[in-house]
Amino acid sequence: MNSDRFVAEKLAVDTSDHVLDMGCGVGGTSVYLAKTYGCRVTGITVSRVQREQAAEYAAASGVRHLTQFEVMDYTAMTFRDATFTKAFTQESSNYALDKRELLREAHRVLAPGGCYVSLDAFQRRDPRPGKEETSLSRVLRGWACAGLERFDRYRAFAGEVGLAVVESGDLSPRTARSSRAIWRRHVFLYPLASLARCLGLVPAEFLWHFQASIGQKDMYCTTDCLLMFGYLVARKPQSDVQPASADDRDQNAERGAAADQRRM
Ligand SMILES: C[S@@+](CC[C@H](N)C(=O)[O-])C[C@H]1O[C@@H](n2cnc3c(N)ncnc32)[C@H](O)[C@@H]1O
Repeated sequence: MNSDRFVAEKLAVDTSDHVLDMGCGVGGTSVYLAKTYGCRVTGITVSRVQREQAAEYAAASGVRHLTQFEVMDYTAMTFRDATFTKAFTQESSNYALDKRELLREAHRVLAPGGCYVSLDAFQRRDPRPGKEETSLSRVLRGWACAGLERFDRYRAFAGEVGLAVVESGDLSPRTARSSRAIWRRHVFLYPLASLARCLGLVPAEFLWHFQASIGQKDMYCTTDCLLMFGYLVARKPQSDVQPASADDRDQNAERGAAADQRRM
């Protein structure tokens, strides 16, 4: 499955768009969108190193003029209200401590009629106490991940913050092959990784990552499995514009000033 193309198609990206990539990593999807559709893309990440790599990649791909990368928390963004026509999280929403805050911010920075797409890992249900709970926390530890939201709850949160969910689905059957491939690679190399850890050549996190990559397969690929790879498409209604309170107006002015300063 080509996730970048999937996100682009669900967002219905075109040249006139300004897209926000919330959790852009090293800029792969941002650059793909700018190059393929000629739209403007702003990518945000919590990592300074990723921001630099993304900017370098965009320049090397000939889309520096269409892209911008910033270090920013997607649950507390400094963009003005209604800055973007489209926004998405791709394998990044699960790093948010509070998913509702992420969605609230996506809603705020989208223009009326704007579209948000999530393509992320979710829980299908709550884990069973005992073995399943332990396996899940081991996977989350290895992915350095705050926690996976239950898919039905994530959809409900979107509605709560004012985003109308127009489509959602389970893509797990299409991603099961790559889940198994990740498992196979890590099972094969696990003895070497353990040895490297025993000799003190790698940190504990390195082995945790292996354990997560091995443990995820059973959570994605068995009957009644706990995890799923899901997507949702949500719209900010056209008539969403509410009169701003004095506090909201002050906050927006501050965000605008911060954004202007960054551009200078
Ligand atoms: C697994 S990577 C996914 C990168 C990219 N979207 C992709 O699909 O390849 C997760 C990304 O989420 C970003 N991230 C995590 N927490 C974040 C936060 N609070 N605000 C903004 N970005 C965040 C990380 O910096 C990283 O770039």
